[in-house]
Amino acid sequence: MPFPQRKSVRRAGIRRSAFVLAAISVALLSPVTVFAKTNRPNWNPGPPWAPLAPGSGEMLEISNLFWIMLVLSGIVFAIVSGVLIASAVRYSARRGQEGEPRQVFGNRAVEIAWTVVPTVILLVAFIATTKAIHDINTPSGGNILNINVIGHQWWWEFQYPSLNVVTADELHLPTGQNVHFHITSADVIHSFWTPQLQRQVDANPRQDNAVFLKVDQPGVYDGACYEYCGEAHAWMKYRVIVQSPAAFQAWAKHDRSPATGTAKGSHQSALVATGEKVFLNNTCVNCHAITGTSAGGAVGPNLTHLGSRWTIGAGAAPLDQQDLERWIADPTTFKPGVLMPQYPFLSHQDLHALAAYLLSLK
Ligand code: CUA
Repeated sequence: MPFPQRKSVRRAGIRRSAFVLAAISVALLSPVTVFAKTNRPNWNPGPPWAPLAPGSGEMLEISNLFWIMLVLSGIVFAIVSGVLIASAVRYSARRGQEGEPRQVFGNRAVEIAWTVVPTVILLVAFIATTKAIHDINTPSGGNILNINVIGHQWWWEFQYPSLNVVTADELHLPTGQNVHFHITSADVIHSFWTPQLQRQVDANPRQDNAVFLKVDQPGVYDGACYEYCGEAHAWMKYRVIVQSPAAFQAWAKHDRSPATGTAKGSHQSALVATGEKVFLNNTCVNCHAITGTSAGGAVGPNLTHLGSRWTIGAGAAPLDQQDLERWIADPTTFKPGVLMPQYPFLSHQDLHALAAYLLSLK
């Protein structure tokens, strides 16, 4: 039977294929261009790509699984698309060729092959995945450091019950120590994720989700909330600082005691003293705690050693005098949606003294 419209049909087909190819390329390339254009400020570098830089045994296991899956699916993709393209070229209608091609039904060898090969591939993937899930969810024996991780809109609270330490947005860990994170939330669902160290774990209210971890090398690792949790979700970052056991113990001892004043000179100490008064006489104390003062609020981050942290607003701005003053006057400049109120009524002198006081808390 002749096909009078075959040529135009084929041309339309080629146009459609070209369009689909172009759309797929744009979809694949657009995230790359977006990331390339992102100008990250240096106080907030963001983590490297985790499969290339695993920082813990748990993450190494997950990375290995990722590479196994990538190679397996790469091989399947290459074979399937290779056979598809080869068949399209080899068996497409030739010029002058009329009528239906020779019809073929069934081929026992091929049927067996495409049943057995995928079954074996899926079995390998299943066993590797099950082993990784089992390994990373099995706590190692011995001495375990328990840490409570509590997600808040929009910051992280870290409690070390055995060390009597409570801190925010910066998590310290000793090397070589088995850690059990108890992950929960004070409000909505968040997700705790340090890409180089551990998998994503939801922080649910009234639920204790576990993550086990042991990090062997000292280093600084970036983490973030990975579950959309409201307006300031993007500014719910934290840092993990892994130190030698001795440095960690020194940090814990320092962190549970009141901040040591670092004011130098009488002018600076007068400024810090004024700042402390401003802090204690305003509503700051309703939400924030500072060990050694009457401030005991537990709604916002504990500020006892704020001066030794790297950022304010869970990664929203670098910690320095000028940004801290702007933050207190109007935190929404840095972090839209933040629950901390604005303090536009504070005089410039009061703001200056307050920021100097908070920075002195090391
Ligand atoms: Cu917390 Cu997103």
